[in-house]
This record gives sequence, structure tokens and C-alpha cells, in this order.
Amino acid sequence: MALKTGFRLLLASALVMAAASAQAQSQESMAAKGRWTANQAGQAPVPPMGWNSWNAFYSDVDEEKVMASAKVIRDSGLAAAGYRYINIDDGWWLKRRQSDQRMVIRTARFPSADIGKGDTTSFKPLTDRLHAMGFKAGIYTDIGRNSCGQIYTPNFANQPEGTIAEREVGLYGHADQDIALYFAEWGFDYIKVDGCGVRGLGADAEHVRNGNYRQLDPLIDMNAIGRTDIPAVRGLYQDVADALKRHNPDGEYLFSICLWGSSDVRSWAKDVGNISRTSDDITSNWSRMLTNFDTTLTRALYAHPGSWNDPDMLFVGQGDFDANHMTEARSHFALWAITNAPLLIGYDLRKATPEQIALFGNKALIALNQDPAGHQAVPAYLSDDVQILVKTLANGDKGVAIFNRGLSPMKAVLTADQLKMRADRPVALTDLWGGKGVQFTKEQTFEVGPHQTLMFTARGTRALLDGIYLSEVPGQVNPAEDGIVTPKGDPTIHHSIIPWVGTRGAGEHPQYAGWGGAQADRSPFMTPLRVAGQRIDTGLGVLANSRLEVRNEGGNTRFAANVGVDDGATMRDRPVVFEVYADGRLVTKSAPVRAGQAAVPVQADVSGAKIVELVARAEGDGPAGDALPVVWGEARLTR
Ligand code: GLA
Repeated sequence: MALKTGFRLLLASALVMAAASAQAQSQESMAAKGRWTANQAGQAPVPPMGWNSWNAFYSDVDEEKVMASAKVIRDSGLAAAGYRYINIDDGWWLKRRQSDQRMVIRTARFPSADIGKGDTTSFKPLTDRLHAMGFKAGIYTDIGRNSCGQIYTPNFANQPEGTIAEREVGLYGHADQDIALYFAEWGFDYIKVDGCGVRGLGADAEHVRNGNYRQLDPLIDMNAIGRTDIPAVRGLYQDVADALKRHNPDGEYLFSICLWGSSDVRSWAKDVGNISRTSDDITSNWSRMLTNFDTTLTRALYAHPGSWNDPDMLFVGQGDFDANHMTEARSHFALWAITNAPLLIGYDLRKATPEQIALFGNKALIALNQDPAGHQAVPAYLSDDVQILVKTLANGDKGVAIFNRGLSPMKAVLTADQLKMRADRPVALTDLWGGKGVQFTKEQTFEVGPHQTLMFTARGTRALLDGIYLSEVPGQVNPAEDGIVTPKGDPTIHHSIIPWVGTRGAGEHPQYAGWGGAQADRSPFMTPLRVAGQRIDTGLGVLANSRLEVRNEGGNTRFAANVGVDDGATMRDRPVVFEVYADGRLVTKSAPVRAGQAAVPVQADVSGAKIVELVARAEGDGPAGDALPVVWGEARLTR
């Protein structure tokens, strides 16, 4: 009994300490920094474009296959259109040499890696060839001791060979040595770091029980964020980021984080890497493409020049996106383009038809994806049938996608309001599929075929003439602290059958954490922004105890917003104070506002400031989390 009471006391004080440390942590992350803290290291001012071997060949990859697609990219004009990276995925490695832990390449598949020095192999001849062709080269590894292929697809070709120790090909315990080898010695420019080794080798895993691989207590539980050691996973990836900086003094590298939306990666990958996978693997199945698309659809504020959401590589060319399904192929490509996804072709290009090459090479869509302003499209209209996405371009025009997810033709109305353009002035639409342009005022109705995506750029008179709404420029807004206390799976994501699981078990469930994250033009829970019963069309929705960093570009001098507690708040009595900082200096602060109170104006002179920070602070003690969404209504920077 006494023991039990003692245990309870211990547990209670541990909980109090945990709450206190969470509180202290969020105080620290809410403190104005006066600088942009999201990642800018590495080379990703715009989303990377290129080719990767996995969707085309899985691990049955070899030098000839890689070079064949590279040649098509060069000769067909795709290289000139922007496809730059040629990336080798799982399947290249043979073993880790035990005398000095150096990685050995499977020279039977990559003959040029045999440099005549026995098991001292090198990819330098291959990267030299790729570089000479004008390409950059990418390689693949895992953050654990073992790879995804070893753990999940052991029957696929080219699994590492040898003793248990020789088959430990991942970075775990070797990050510095391997990164030095891959970048400084072999000349790679890009690395994808998968996470299977810290996920699948617990004491009860079959591979461990049968003595195939060493046990490594899992840090990641894909099905339970609560059983995932988020700081430990982040720490391992941060070590890789540091090694990449050390071994690439010129900063010429790209760091691809592959954690499939686990480990609350949404909240931190933007600070550590250049692209980050938001979901489990894509397949050549329409429904699976929807799942992957959905995991980035509502994450616009988490993508910026330097760090992008990655819904996985393209499957154009195969299955539901093959040459007989060009409507689906076009939609898949167009959705990736407008959401600033990496454009990584996953197809054996020796088999590509001219129509497929033309799709990959669509200049207008590539321009949308590679627009230097780097704003991911924001959903303007959402339903499970039709979705309308709008992306602000560097020249002030808007990119527009009208996407029919379903099997029936649909009528879709595009409004000037959705474009944040004046409804009493003409809007001119250019068809990015090469069709006839349209001009309209107020609104325009379209027929959208099954699975079709209409793509336009729009030019009109901006609703806000002398500046920008922050929800139009998500690439300039970093949710440095988004107020989420307990990460939860996002329930809005399409639940497709995972092919390698099938319909065994209970079915799919919300698993990609991020529910409650900061949103453009919506609350963190995807409801329309509303304060005291008043609908607010434009603005940022975020939880209290948050800090948004905003780049002030174009010499704007004023920040203004109407702020309040979102009507979705269940914590009705807790006041929230809204603070605005210019380069780290407090420039204005609202009076405390509670749920049910009308939105109050805040405005401030931010002339000359490079970074404006928006802090929403719940007064009093204790976490607020889900219970206290707030609204930065009509948040804008003006001249
Ligand atoms: C994981 C990744 C894929 C691919 C395979 C390789 O499943 O998510 O993109 O790299 O591993 O085995």
C-alpha cells in the first residue's frame, strides 16, 4: 500500500514536472527570436526536380537502368526543363566492411564502382559521369542500423549480404563516416534518409527473434504517436544535418527526410532538412495517391524555400497513371506541381510515350512548381468531390487547380473571392493545359470530368491593393511554435487500403500527426475562421501559445489584423493576448481577449523590419492546446 502511495506520489510529481517542463519549453519557443528559424541550409530554394529509381525498379536497380533514364532526361529536353537530380534508392549496397566500417557497393550491379581495389569501391566514376551530363546525383540510406528493404521487403532484390554486422548498412553509429564517404569522397549531392531501422527491430520482431538482425528498441511507432520518442528521432536526423554541413562546406547538398509523417515530423523537419515525407509510400493506385496528396494539402504553412512537404515520388507512367490513364496522370502531376511537391519521376523512362514526356515537361506546370516565391497552394474550397487550390506566384498572379476527386462529372464554381481578387473587375484565366483562356467577373462555372484537374493562372485586381494577406504567402510564414501540446493523427486524410497490409485487421485510421496545426484561411481544425459569430474569410488560424515568424518582403511598413479567440474554442474563460514583434522588438500587444468577444484590431509600424513575429499567448498557467484556437483575421502587411 505504502509502496503504491509512494509510486503514485512519484508519478504525480513526475507529471507535474513534465507539465512544468512543457510549459517552460513553450515559453522559450514563444519568445521572439528576431530571425527566421526554419531551415535554409542545403540547396532547396525551390522544390527539387529529378528522377529516383524506387517507383520504377524497387531495389532491382543497376547502373544501366539509372543511366538509361538519365539519358532520356537529357535527350528529351526534360533536363533543360529542370529535372536535375538522378537519385539511387534502396538496393545499391552490398555490405559494411568490418575492418574499417567502410560501406561497400554492389559492383555486380554498379560495375563502374569497381575501381580495381577489391572491396574498396567507389561511386565517384558514376557521379562524375552524371555531373558531366549536367546532373546532380543522389544516394539513399537509413537512420537505423538496417534498411527498409531488409526489414519490410526482404524478398526484393539486392539485400545486403554477409554477417549480421556486415549487413548493418544504415547510418546508426556511422553518420559522420558515411556522410563523409557519400559526399566528400563519392561526390553525391543529395541524400534520402529513411527511418525503418529505428522502427521495426524491437525485441519481438521476427527478424530479431530469428537472429537475422540486432535488436534496436524502436523509437517510432507508426500507429501510436504516444509511443514514439520524438526528440530522439529528431536528434538522429539533426546529427545527419550537422554531418552534411561539416562535409559539404560549400553548402551544396540536399537532405531528404523520409519518416512517412511519423514522429510529429511536420513540426520539426522544416527546421532540419530540405524535404520531408508526409505519408507512407505512394503506389500506382488512385486512392493511395489521394492519401499522399491529402497529407500535404493542409500543410501549406509548413513549406518554405529551403524546406518542402514531400508527398512522395511521382507514379506517373504506371498503374492508374499509365499511358491509358492520362487524365489521372495529369491530375497526379498537376497536384504535385501546385503544392510545391518535389517533382521526382519514378518511371523507367525508356518506356515513356511522347505524351508522358510532354506531361513531365509541361513548362507551365513546372513554372508553377518552381515559382521563386515558394508559396504552396492553399485550399480555397474543399470537399470530398471537388477541391479548389490557389497558389500565389511571385508576379502576383495566382495558380489555380480545380480537382475532381470522384467518378462523376462535377460542376465547379470558381469565384473572384477565392482568388482574393475584386469581384467587380475582370479576372483573366490562362489554361495551363493549352486550352482556350477565359475571362470572367465575379465567378465562373466549369465542368470538371471524373478525376480531372483544370489548371490555370489567374490575373485580376487584387482585393488588397497595397499589400498582402499572410494567408496568401504561406512560404513567408513559419509556424515556429504551433501550440500543439499533444500531437494527434489528422482525421481528414483519405484512408486508402495500404496494399502491403490489405484488408487484414481493422482498417486505416488517422495516423499522420498534425491535426491542430496552423492553417491559412481556416481554423486548426479545418472549420471556417469565426470570431463571436462573425465569419472571417481571410487569415491565419492557429492554437494559442504559438509563435508565427513572418518574412516581411517588399518593404512593407505596416502589419494589421483583427484578432480574437476562434468560436471553436472550448476554453471559454482563458484570455489570450496577441503580441506583434518587429525584428524581435515588441511593437504592439492586444488587450486580453476571451472566447465570445468580437475581434479586436491590432496594428503596428514594422518599417524596416525583416521578420515580424505573431505571438498568441494564453494568460494564466497550464497548457491550452486544442481547447484554444485563435484567429489572426485579415492578417496583412501593407506599404
Ligand atoms: C521506404 C521508403 C520508400 C523507399 C523504400 C526502399 O518504404 O518510404 O520511399 O525508399 O523504403 O526500401
